[in-house]
Amino acid sequence: MDQFISLNRPYTAIKQLGYIQDVFDSGNWSSQGRYTSKCNQFFRDYFETGDNLLTHSCTAALEIAALLLDLAEGDEVIVPAFTFVTTASAFALRGARIVWADSTREHPNISAETVRPLINQKTKAVVMVHYAGNSRGVEQLLALCEEYGVQFIEDAAQAYFSRAGGRFAGSYGSMSAISFHDTKPVSCGEGGLLQINDQKWIDRAKVILEKGTDRLLYLGGKVPEYNWRDLGSSYAASEIQAAVLLAQLEESPQIFLLRRALWDQYVHLLSSGLDHVIKLPLNQIPYANNTSVFYIEIIEASRRNDCISFLRSKGIGASFHYLNLCESPFGCRYKTRDCPNAQYWADHLIRLPLHTEMSAMDVHYIAEMVRRYFE
Ligand SMILES: Cc1ncc(COP(=O)(O)O)c(C=O)c1O
Repeated sequence: MDQFISLNRPYTAIKQLGYIQDVFDSGNWSSQGRYTSKCNQFFRDYFETGDNLLTHSCTAALEIAALLLDLAEGDEVIVPAFTFVTTASAFALRGARIVWADSTREHPNISAETVRPLINQKTKAVVMVHYAGNSRGVEQLLALCEEYGVQFIEDAAQAYFSRAGGRFAGSYGSMSAISFHDTKPVSCGEGGLLQINDQKWIDRAKVILEKGTDRLLYLGGKVPEYNWRDLGSSYAASEIQAAVLLAQLEESPQIFLLRRALWDQYVHLLSSGLDHVIKLPLNQIPYANNTSVFYIEIIEASRRNDCISFLRSKGIGASFHYLNLCESPFGCRYKTRDCPNAQYWADHLIRLPLHTEMSAMDVHYIAEMVRRYFE
């Protein structure tokens, strides 16, 4: 293989340059213009419930969710130990005590079983991550949160277009956050969405999005001037981000079709003769993932980094993924118990390249190299 096959490459939508030019021509490059409003409408149609805010990142969306919770000293938020830093830092920034929840042994997601023993009087919210776009356990986690009267929040950073039991991932929690970072299947460089399923949060979320002001009411002609009303920050996406995102959203069915073909080919090529050394990701109905990440689970952790180095030496951008945050230099200050399954996934997982510029030949080559490593 002459060219390095990178782990991710952003998709380029046909209309994105034209839409960006349109933004430049309009003179409104900042936020809350025509493209933001079209993206908002897209997600109203997609989720068929609640309302949404376009943000400059999924992290920003999580931070808005954390501000809405009005966390006080001593309040606890349950967060997976196996996740990206900002799933936790968004809540830690607001003073929450982070309580690390373990993954299951079968799948990197947390579950009602791993979370139940962690809930107490101080628990304000449970945050679930849909790892690799897979929503395994979402209904049970929602039911558990309802049983205890705590907020259920979905970090659906990787889960745009994932379905869980006939619904889209992101429609279960009172709020959910999606990422459009350029490592995601649909992206605008940096970008995010806060989907708000519980009406009670919507008005205040719009104030928090706009630096704590009622600028959105002002723009809608509802108040004669805008003023500082609440805590907030600069969380909105620019029109340039929204323009790229809209072009990509419009092409999402094609993007996911292309990715699905590559994902299925990986499964086909790796599913026989390697059971003693690797396992393939669970992708069972009703948790049909969106193909955001293709990974293999290597049975012998001691070979994981060597396997990644071998694949890289063959021009393949294989990579590990999240670390176990309860052992991280900052996250360990919240640690009260081990998270052995989060550690398992941190040690055993290898991501393989998956993006729309890859060909069937690329997947064939990568699968061949995986086989060669284990021969
Ligand atoms: C689970 C999870 N949450 C949050 C984020 C942060 O997303 P963003 O880069 O859009 O802020 C990521 C990024 O990949 C993620 O994987």
